[in-house]
Amino acid sequence: MARLYQQGRMKMRRHTLFFFCALALCVFSQLHYYKALHHMPILSELYASSVNALSFLWRGKGNPSYNANPERRPLPGPVPSDTGLWEPEEYREDQGNAEVGRKIGRGSEDPWGKEQPDSGNVNRMTFTLPDPKGPWGELHKRSFHLRDDPTPFFVRTMSGAYCFREGTEITSLKDHLGQKVQAPGEGQRKILHAHREEPKSAWGKKLVKCTCRPGWHGPHCGIPTMVQHSNLPTKGSLTLRKVPRRVINAININHEFDLLHARFHELADAVDLFLVCESNFTAYGNAKPLHFLRLLLNGTYNYVQHKILYVFLDHFPKGGQQNGWIADDYLRTFLSRDGMSRVQGARPDDVFLINDADEIPAREGILFLKLYNGWTEPVSIHMRKSLYGFFWRQPGTLDVLSVCTVAMLFTVYNGDGILLRRREYFSMPGFRNYQRKSGHILVQWSIGSPVHYAGWHCSWCFRPEGISQKLISAQNGDFPRWGNYVEKRDLNYIKGLIQTGGWFDGSVGEYPPTDPKEPMYAPKYLLKNFQLYRYVLDNLYA
Ligand SMILES: *[C@@H]1O[C@H](CO)[C@@H](O)[C@H](O)[C@H]1NC(C)=O
Ligand SMILES: *[C@@H]1O[C@H](CO)[C@@H](O)[C@H](O)[C@H]1NC(C)=O
Repeated sequence: MARLYQQGRMKMRRHTLFFFCALALCVFSQLHYYKALHHMPILSELYASSVNALSFLWRGKGNPSYNANPERRPLPGPVPSDTGLWEPEEYREDQGNAEVGRKIGRGSEDPWGKEQPDSGNVNRMTFTLPDPKGPWGELHKRSFHLRDDPTPFFVRTMSGAYCFREGTEITSLKDHLGQKVQAPGEGQRKILHAHREEPKSAWGKKLVKCTCRPGWHGPHCGIPTMVQHSNLPTKGSLTLRKVPRRVINAININHEFDLLHARFHELADAVDLFLVCESNFTAYGNAKPLHFLRLLLNGTYNYVQHKILYVFLDHFPKGGQQNGWIADDYLRTFLSRDGMSRVQGARPDDVFLINDADEIPAREGILFLKLYNGWTEPVSIHMRKSLYGFFWRQPGTLDVLSVCTVAMLFTVYNGDGILLRRREYFSMPGFRNYQRKSGHILVQWSIGSPVHYAGWHCSWCFRPEGISQKLISAQNGDFPRWGNYVEKRDLNYIKGLIQTGGWFDGSVGEYPPTDPKEPMYAPKYLLKNFQLYRYVLDNLYA
């Protein structure tokens, strides 16, 4: 009897062992499948190295940092890259595999990764910065204390449903509350496809639900279409937060001041803090006035001043003149390190979002990150891309990795925003550890999709004078450097380019026709002030 029992137990144990082995195998293979699906590290590494080898041959020089920044990535079709280079076919962006062309393992060769920015020039700084004893104090040294956002984003209806105000049908709120509830943004933007979610009933009992307006989804109507139609793998387990995350948006600014207005208006109620970094050096290494500072001080950004922290880069990185990509990367390193070191009260689950001045995320996607739990990270954003204005739209989207939590920024990326923008998180030393601690499988996903824009990337969107200025200040990193040619900086020549969508190498763009009335044509602040910003909304020279 005892033997039988023993045998039985051993059998059981074997079975249990077998069961767990099978389970582990299953989980393991799922994990691999997932990875293959979402970041394809092995494939992309192979692909990236072959692409890099190709680029080496093609360009006749081996610049290891080439293409490290997503926005330098080529645009599909016969369109120029942001930095003035026609790319070989291999470099062209592929919606399905956004990691193509990514250089692997650059972090270790980054000479600026560990070097602390030198900050010993305090006295000489006062010649452009405001008087430290004046009302502005030491502007570039101030700190910012993050506070919880008290905005009532949700409302409780009389029947007990908890609804996102903006995403919920007003009439249904009115029915429940007996009063009109303001729905901001109404009619301002047609949000992609209209979807209507009817309250469902089960067992004949009426479920307490919100009635969503077109463009909003989920039981609380807080999930925008750009998330609903995204590749977020955890859509089924999203929950509302009791206290919103705080969102920090870091940007470097040169002279993209109209796009900056567009950003501030787009994101003012989703973002808690804008870290805006300006340097008195151009990316080429020449002296440059602090234009943004002047505007900040004269009240141009009054409406959002309380959310801006000014970051001042007062030096030019070593080697930045010979290798322009060093200067380009260093801007982001300094922005995130200096900026974040002055932020107080940040929590691990707050959101860090780093953009270039010409990348404007749509507010709905960022609000979602702020108000929900259950999404994975890092997060990228599919942006509509256009040249000279929103009228020359290029096919596809630019999908830029630009969001993670504050915890991930510091644990995985060492507080360096440029590392976030490269797609190498899974090979960062801190990643496995961070993933283990978080208790989740971390999978990169994108807000939006190749057919659902979640933001705008507007390259070279200036008046002709601004384009000329951008040519002059461009980094010494991509050749030919058009800013070196006087005739390319000629305003009439530039007007001709805007007119035809052409490029500095003499090629002409082929773009589908656009209409300012199409959904997600441009940030809504620009559309609302159409006459004022006509030059980026409408081709003035056509
Ligand atoms: C930038 O500012 C720093 C600090 O004030 C100063 O030392 C440096 O010379 C300035 N650089 C240029 C190019 O003006
Ligand atoms: C601030 O300065 C800019 C540039 O000089 C000027 O165009 C703008 O009107 C000024 N704004 C205010 C509010 O004074």
